Amino acid sequence: MQQAFAVSPLPTAQTQPDRSALITRIKRLLVEQNAVLIAHYYTAPELQELADASGGHVSDSLDMARFGHDSSAKTLIVAGVRFMGETAKILNPEKRVLMIDSAATCSLDDDCPAGAFTAFCDAHPDRTVVVYANTSAAVKARADWVVTSSIAVKVVAHLHAQGKKILWAPDKHLGSYVQQVTGADMLLWDGSCVVHNQFKAQMLAEMKVTHPEAGVLVHPESPAGVVALADVVGSTTALIKAAKDLPNQTFIVATDNGIFHKMQEAAPGKIFLEAPTAGMGATCKSCAHCPWMAMNNLEKLAQVLETGSNEILIDEAIRQKAIISIQRMLDFAQSSHRAIMGNDNA
Ligand code: 13P
Ligand code: SF4
Repeated sequence: MQQAFAVSPLPTAQTQPDRSALITRIKRLLVEQNAVLIAHYYTAPELQELADASGGHVSDSLDMARFGHDSSAKTLIVAGVRFMGETAKILNPEKRVLMIDSAATCSLDDDCPAGAFTAFCDAHPDRTVVVYANTSAAVKARADWVVTSSIAVKVVAHLHAQGKKILWAPDKHLGSYVQQVTGADMLLWDGSCVVHNQFKAQMLAEMKVTHPEAGVLVHPESPAGVVALADVVGSTTALIKAAKDLPNQTFIVATDNGIFHKMQEAAPGKIFLEAPTAGMGATCKSCAHCPWMAMNNLEKLAQVLETGSNEILIDEAIRQKAIISIQRMLDFAQSSHRAIMGNDNA
């Protein structure tokens, strides 16, 4: 029997007054250092709450990049994984960018080393290189375009309409989803997310029978069989919006369970169930949480603010190339937003 998601309790070693004192200390340090906290939806609820309460931001990876770019703060503290910190630094070389934990990586980034990726691109010079944001600065530097899950379909559809063939990396599931939606000619790198790759279509189908009233929300890093069972497929922001907008009172969610915090905030009273991540006989029924997102916590945040450690530094030659493919995405996002607003006003 599936359980409704419950927000994890605070660490037991600390009392609530200790916790409040820690949060007060962090807020003071953020002000003193003209720093802003930018958190991904998959991080711990208390980090998300602190980002919201201190003038920071909680969002998906595209919007995190945008916020860092627009913020006047001198230091950006990234609660997320390394590629998010690197993107912030690429876009803001004059700002100090600190990670809460510099070991927080991403399996997609790890599975796509720059050397092998460059050789792959060199072997297919006729293709436009589109990479997911979940990659290193060096991989972005070799790409023509960077995309996040919220804009991948639009960008590839745009390139396809221009008759371009695509080389896509690193997530094969997101790549085949985009290929299916756009009909583009896409050559895919063989990478996957350790979290989303674990969602199981067969068990999800069984769960839908048990919860026929539930809407199914799926992040496109999930396998095709899981995507096929979805009512809504989308980026983290799109899934939160769907949780609010759809009439269903219950949802089965195939993405990192850190997102439940914002879903509950956006749609209070609704029930969110984790999509199953393991097959019959497994002891872990659902452990849909990114091990690297889980490395972020308040204690480390305070330490980073006090010591200035975990600073992201990027080779300037790489940065100058990587910013071109990221800026292309941001400009495209802005112009397609303007086009939508224009249509709305028409
Ligand atoms: P979003 O771009 O949807 O925030 O996803 C980032 C990510 O790492 C998903 O696993
Ligand atoms: Fe990377 Fe997956 Fe973690 Fe997202 S959830 S940061 S794609 S490992």
